[in-house]
Amino acid sequence: MNDRLTSVIRGTGSALPERIMRNQDFEGIVDTSDEWIRQRTGIAARHIAGEGETTVSLAEAAARRALDAAGMAADDIDLIILATATPNNTFPASAVQVQAALGITHGFAFDVHAVCSGFVYALTTADLYLRGGQARTALVIGAETFSRLLDWEDRTTCVLFGDGAGAVVLQAETAEGPEPHGVLVSRLRSDGCHQEKLYVDGGPSTTGTVGHLRMQGREVFKHAVGMITDVIEDSFAAAGIGPDDIDWFVPHQANRRIIEASAKKLGIAQEKVIITVEGHGNTSAASIPLALDAAVRDGRIRPGHLVLLEAMGGGFTWGAVLIRW
Ligand code: UT7
Repeated sequence: MNDRLTSVIRGTGSALPERIMRNQDFEGIVDTSDEWIRQRTGIAARHIAGEGETTVSLAEAAARRALDAAGMAADDIDLIILATATPNNTFPASAVQVQAALGITHGFAFDVHAVCSGFVYALTTADLYLRGGQARTALVIGAETFSRLLDWEDRTTCVLFGDGAGAVVLQAETAEGPEPHGVLVSRLRSDGCHQEKLYVDGGPSTTGTVGHLRMQGREVFKHAVGMITDVIEDSFAAAGIGPDDIDWFVPHQANRRIIEASAKKLGIAQEKVIITVEGHGNTSAASIPLALDAAVRDGRIRPGHLVLLEAMGGGFTWGAVLIRW
């Protein structure tokens, strides 16, 4: 590992399916209400992939926008890491399908599977490859089509999730000056003892089917805030900073109540929290890069800002990344 190298974000991009499904649209499908969904989750609407829209097509669109924002060409990319639990095919990896769609024939590409924590895992992995000198410029993508895993008769899950993709261009540069930019600290965790609380009841090696998402929502909720705050406190300690040093907190967007409770427990002011769950629902690995792109494009996240990412999801997996923009 080269201690002088740091991984810097050069550009962000995102893509959402055309079709928007509002809470009211569920009222004829399952026994639910706009009021229940808003109160319990903060979600008002989500995007649902239509025919021809897939994890790979959304990922490609997000990647092209991130490349545009970075002022780079696809040819500059020598590593693609795509976080997804909903790949187009069981294999090959969706990352190599994006690589082909972008016309890249050099470097290497692979998927990372850590469900809702996927983007935090993928960013951490890319940072290690870049600082290890195995690649110079990476596309790190979170892309999902969870709508295709949902049991549309189960009101406890079908109202919660949405589809989309977000991407960042991450590039190795030589660290300079007293205040280094780029990925400063990351901390990843998992504990497979909790797998039955959030899982898909199918797969190639068991049922030979895709399966449906199953979740004990209350159980997940019970663990979420503690796990999130533990891993963030570890990151703060490793970076020698505290909650007041953070400019923006960009959490995984599963539930507004979880996000606000975590920020409160950590002492992070609510006005520093980026929230997109209202319009996106829970887009699993795509939620953080979608939120990042929104906050970069509307001018909230700016160069020099200290940005904290956090995610928790199926596995359980969880993690945090601190970035100086
Ligand atoms: O991204 C990965 C991580 N995932 C999460 O972080 C999700 C974590 N969990 C949650 O966000 C929340 O637990 C939920 C939003 C899933 C549920 O909220 P809750 O406040 O924990 O509700 P609950 O599961 O305790 O259910 C309360 C009631 C139940 O009825 P009874 O048993 O009290 O009669 C449910 O059957 O709400 C009922 N319910 C619904 N009612 C209307 C559950 N889903 C719905 C619904 N519409 N869609």
